Amino acid sequence: MSIFVTGDGSHSIESAEYGVPYHSRYGARTESEHVFIEAGLKYWLEHTVDQNSPSILEYGIGTGLNALLSHHFAQSSDLRLSYTGIEKYPIDNWTQLNYLQGDLAGNQKFFNDFHNTTWQDDDQVFIELHDHLHFCKINGDFREVNIQRRYDVIFFDAFAPNAQEELWEESVLQQCYDRLHPLGVWVSYCAKGEVRRRLQRCGFQVERIPGPPGKREMLRATKQND
Ligand SMILES: C[S@@+](CC[C@H](N)C(=O)[O-])C[C@H]1O[C@@H](n2cnc3c(N)ncnc32)[C@H](O)[C@@H]1O
Repeated sequence: MSIFVTGDGSHSIESAEYGVPYHSRYGARTESEHVFIEAGLKYWLEHTVDQNSPSILEYGIGTGLNALLSHHFAQSSDLRLSYTGIEKYPIDNWTQLNYLQGDLAGNQKFFNDFHNTTWQDDDQVFIELHDHLHFCKINGDFREVNIQRRYDVIFFDAFAPNAQEELWEESVLQQCYDRLHPLGVWVSYCAKGEVRRRLQRCGFQVERIPGPPGKREMLRATKQND
């Protein structure tokens, strides 16, 4: 897996398995902030009553950038965050990534702990890091891992449908729906019409909203009822 610099100066990596980058070439950090933190986590916080303890389920931990940005935001906003991430192919070159600079420079301990902690089989064992963060890393396939909890926000960060169509099937999106609390929010950088229609068939209310640099639109889906 080779590391490269994206348009905003932050690193990304190229998947050896699928030959695609983990992030937008226009900017890895910019994309993560826009899609997952702004349109996902912050959106959920603005539309919920229980504002202090969001729970996030990430599909595709990859470099850990989304987890790092979520942690950073939670810390600066005084939130208690519970974060579960699923990953089938853990990376081993994360120490070479350039994310711990500027405003993220103080997050070295989090990033080390996050990458070094043991992988689990399900979402029952959480690592408590400081008072405000619990996290759980699950090693396995999105479609097979045992998820027992429900979550407020899903970061759906699989490789694009043209690289891994099977991860965007309706059955996988239905699992996402079932794993969310009512009013839970699913976000992805993807804007594909067929994915939008599948989400609607699962019961989601789906919005097309402006995407990060280089993408006109992205999808956000909200669960209405149980
Ligand atoms: C777009 S990248 C995720 C980027 C990541 N969120 C980050 O911040 O670096 C997609 C991720 O999904 C993982 N993946 C691919 N197929 C998977 C599967 N079937 N089950 C679980 N993870 C998978 C890849 O290894 C990769 O880490």
